[in-house]
Amino acid sequence: MKVLENQLLVIFGASGDLTSRKLIPALFEIFSQQLLPDGFAILGVGRKEFSSEEFRTKISTELSKTGDKTPGKNVIEAFVSMLHYISVNTMDTSEYGSIRTKIDELQQAHGTGGNCIFYLATPPSLYEIVASGLSINGLTANDNGWKRIIVEKPFGINLKSAQLLNNHLLQCFDEDQIYRIDHYLGKETVQNVMVTRFSNGIFEPLWNRNYIHHVEITAAESIGVEGRGGYYDKSGALRDMVQNHLLQLVSLIAMEPPTRIHAHDIRNETLKVLHSVRRIENIGSDVIRGQYTESMVRGIKHNGYRSEPGVASDSRTETYVALRLFIDNWRWGGVPFYIRTGKCLPVRVTEIVVHFRPTPHRLFCFDEGRMNSDNQLIIRIQPDEGILFKIGMKIPGTGFHVQDVNLDFHYSDLGSQNLPEAYQRLLVDAMQGDATLFTRGDAIEQSWKIVDPILRAWENDQSIPIFGYPAVTWGPQEADGLIDDSTMTWRYPCKNLAEGIYCEL
Ligand code: BG6
Repeated sequence: MKVLENQLLVIFGASGDLTSRKLIPALFEIFSQQLLPDGFAILGVGRKEFSSEEFRTKISTELSKTGDKTPGKNVIEAFVSMLHYISVNTMDTSEYGSIRTKIDELQQAHGTGGNCIFYLATPPSLYEIVASGLSINGLTANDNGWKRIIVEKPFGINLKSAQLLNNHLLQCFDEDQIYRIDHYLGKETVQNVMVTRFSNGIFEPLWNRNYIHHVEITAAESIGVEGRGGYYDKSGALRDMVQNHLLQLVSLIAMEPPTRIHAHDIRNETLKVLHSVRRIENIGSDVIRGQYTESMVRGIKHNGYRSEPGVASDSRTETYVALRLFIDNWRWGGVPFYIRTGKCLPVRVTEIVVHFRPTPHRLFCFDEGRMNSDNQLIIRIQPDEGILFKIGMKIPGTGFHVQDVNLDFHYSDLGSQNLPEAYQRLLVDAMQGDATLFTRGDAIEQSWKIVDPILRAWENDQSIPIFGYPAVTWGPQEADGLIDDSTMTWRYPCKNLAEGIYCEL
């Protein structure tokens, strides 16, 4: 890893939930691993009235409550000594002069050399205002040290708003100063998709329409909306998960090999995939949406979505969506990509399943009465991160009976190697100016172009159904009908968890 240059990190929304849950723990971990430069400080900006001292106390209390391995008091004290806070009405750009004064002061005190990252951990309604406030006060130009801005999702609510936001940011910053976060790209196992494909000679020759029958991508969540009903009811699963995280996974699975492992080359390749995704015309049959309803599972009552706080009692927001996509290019012509995500499903699991075509001639009899097997490569993003290959193997004894067996690797087998948290990786990358794992403006707009027609159809055509599914089940049964081949179904990972026994990879 490159040594980090001295710099100042300014977090807007410093008293908020994202800062406490994700940013501070990630920064603390980076600090504990002694990766921060000598000249470093964090300035929290927020509307809440705190002194720097009160902010430090708040953060050290939160840090001392985290996880099972409570960090030592001294380490926490050393970390919080780098924290500062300024209370500002962030809605009012005329107050940004005081931020500038504070930044100048900290740059002097900590020798951060004029390098500055602005992290927008605020509600999206503030993104444009903060960018303008910084620009008006001369805080965005790359003179006297570099300046970068990190923007959280959601990046717009449709294509038009994303374009407006991009245009606005580009009036204040250059594209290469803007780091748009998609935390899925920070996950170790997501990065491993590229490594699996491009560091092993055996996969790439098979990675195309001649050998791959279809690809499945599942991001199942067992949690509901967890107190975020107000936000979620205006968003829904398509905006919340598909437009960003799942289309990123599709791009990584389907991209051509980049010429170099460099932000520019990789992002050009993933963008090409998004450009090749066929426009979905028949929303009613290619996209299935659902919403969880009240249920009783193993004696436990689960609330329906409409009774969640902040959710309208007649809400038609989808908490589940499954869709069939095609990528119209030379490599993928005709290969369906089935993707689905939902809340209140039986387990939390994100995985990509590549189904290879069966052998052209069937010689053996498979167990469970099947005549053939499709080899599957399963890339488990989370939990129990790993990779698994299913192949047919002879059952010992007379005859030639075959069963599927697993060749598998679990990250947990690496023992001492902890998988870094996504935010940790992404923060370090932004600090060293590596934009590879951040989304470029054109890719964001392109992914909105894929989901926009679906959103519009749902809005304008009330006859497109939204199916109820009992909470803690695998979503509406109608989603099974998306799979073209009637002999195949979605893979139901962790099916044995239903009996509370174990989670099957
Ligand atoms: C976020 C969504 O982007 O991703 C949440 O807003 C979702 O609704 C979360 O729960 C899932 O992330 P992960 O890392 O838990 O898969």
